Amino acid sequence: MCGIVGAIAQRNVVPILIEGLRRLEYRGYDSAGVAVIQDGEIRRRRKQGKVAELAAAIEADPIEGRIGIAHTRWATHGVPSERNAHPHVCRNTVALVHNGIIENHETLREEQIAAGYEFTSETDTEVVVHAVYDQLQRTGSLLEAVQATVAKLEGAYAIGVISVTEPDVLVACRKGSPLVIGLGIGEYFIASDIAALLPVTRRFIFLEDGDIAELTPEGVRIFDEAGNPVERPVKDSEVQLDAVERGEYRHYMQKEIFEQPRAIAETLEGRFNGLKLIEEAFGNDAPAVFDRVKAVQILACGTSYHAGLVARYWMESLAGIPCNVEVASEYRYRDPVLLPDTLVVTISQSGETADTLAALEEAKRRGALHSLAICNVQESSLVRESDLVLLTRAGPEIGVASTKAFTTQLVALMMLTLALGRRHRLDRVTEKRIASQLFALPARVEDVLELDDRIRALSERFADKQHALFLGRGSHYPIAMEGALKLKEISYIHAEAYPAGELKHGPLALVDADMPVIAVAPNNSLLEKLKSNLQEVKARGGELYVFADETLDVQPDDHTHVLTVTPTENELSPVIFTVPLQLLAYHVAVIRGTDVDKPRNLAKSVTVE
Ligand code: AGP
Repeated sequence: MCGIVGAIAQRNVVPILIEGLRRLEYRGYDSAGVAVIQDGEIRRRRKQGKVAELAAAIEADPIEGRIGIAHTRWATHGVPSERNAHPHVCRNTVALVHNGIIENHETLREEQIAAGYEFTSETDTEVVVHAVYDQLQRTGSLLEAVQATVAKLEGAYAIGVISVTEPDVLVACRKGSPLVIGLGIGEYFIASDIAALLPVTRRFIFLEDGDIAELTPEGVRIFDEAGNPVERPVKDSEVQLDAVERGEYRHYMQKEIFEQPRAIAETLEGRFNGLKLIEEAFGNDAPAVFDRVKAVQILACGTSYHAGLVARYWMESLAGIPCNVEVASEYRYRDPVLLPDTLVVTISQSGETADTLAALEEAKRRGALHSLAICNVQESSLVRESDLVLLTRAGPEIGVASTKAFTTQLVALMMLTLALGRRHRLDRVTEKRIASQLFALPARVEDVLELDDRIRALSERFADKQHALFLGRGSHYPIAMEGALKLKEISYIHAEAYPAGELKHGPLALVDADMPVIAVAPNNSLLEKLKSNLQEVKARGGELYVFADETLDVQPDDHTHVLTVTPTENELSPVIFTVPLQLLAYHVAVIRGTDVDKPRNLAKSVTVE
């Protein structure tokens, strides 16, 4: 999704802006641009393609300035192109960058064309820069012009804007899209993600919805939606610079897959007293809230949704508590019925997913008493909007394909299952057994990572395939879904997941020698059923890839490839079986030569609908 960086300093800000954009590349984008005020004029460079191409263009034709804004664009309105790239400029006076979507842009555009404004792009953003310019003519103040402009905007936005009329002022605002202010010494910054600013500061102010900030060399003033001056807390970030570096790994995704043992261990740390879960890890009010909970409604998107689907099995079979899971983008527009004393649980790596935030708002509107966020970003909107929070401690996840965020979400969801289960079906012996399994998990994941070379070898066989079918049963069906999502998003192979029992109800028609079928086969009560399903595939000449534990007696042959993981007779085996599927997707994508960390058309943080 789009990224914003801006700076006002006593030095040339262009290198800061370019480095910031580079650090936002993981969010996904298709063009990039920078604008500064130099010698009283707006100077702008834009490029379709990568930040490196923009940097090269600036090197070839330099610009510099002590104030500037920059942007990576992920196309929504208008194709990826230089003319649609931000910053957008009005009459060589105002330059502006924007994340989000302006829903009433068509009406504004018509009004502005009638008023004589000339449009040079197909973006929804361009109406904002013209509106700011227009207001600037009336008010003479950039801050007031932005305040008057946003009052007319419908939709979601994070905006950074500069004007030659006030070359020492950068105005920023947000509603529905994240924006953070970085505080340096005598220099100030804006960004859509702290990762962009870590080389220049560790001190941040997280703007609240509706806030407008004015950054000058003297400091930062913030106003709320009603225009009142407000103080927002300054937070020191603990994110380490090297946590967002790739190190010895070829891709961030690969690094993040291998970081999972540590990420899981950190998610557990300090949250148990011996083998007893400390419920206050979810917030001080958690025990009182959990006492009342009679049902759980999980809302999430993509990979986070798959984590929720696994949790439903745990909640119902271990805790004995009813649990619904729904894709957030559907929930927000349905007419859902929320039972009294339902705990609304949102799951999100970024905490900024627009659909998940809107679904939470919808649940609250429908009278949800309590909400809990399982999230990887402490400073995110989702965390701020929720009553209770359990932070996964995966560390920054840069690869667009979510890996360590997913497995730590599963760990967090098992902790929630324990907390709720105590009040329902879960006995103390089972709780202790699962707690021991949780603490053993990092070592178990290490074991699975040892299979990397074998999985890489298997991946060669997928390189020329166009389709793949993933099968699982029970709590491993969502793991099959997650495996299919990973494969499709980074290798561009069309992949579908089915509960194995559904095979004969339709998808079996697709099975032939060109359709690899990947089965997740842990040794559990459904194993015998799954083995029958695998026979159905073999009988049709299908190519089978079975991820099983050692106890499975499926004999490998020319068309049956068996990859064994250490025995997994426990409730956490969905976590274990996730890892080989991540590695499979990763190696297939590498072999096919795709952009593993930044797959086409996708964004890391989906802050628009
Ligand atoms: C995962 O690999 C995806 N890129 C995507 O499905 C992601 O999980 C989804 O967009 C939800 O994001 P969130 O966890 O940040 O809310």
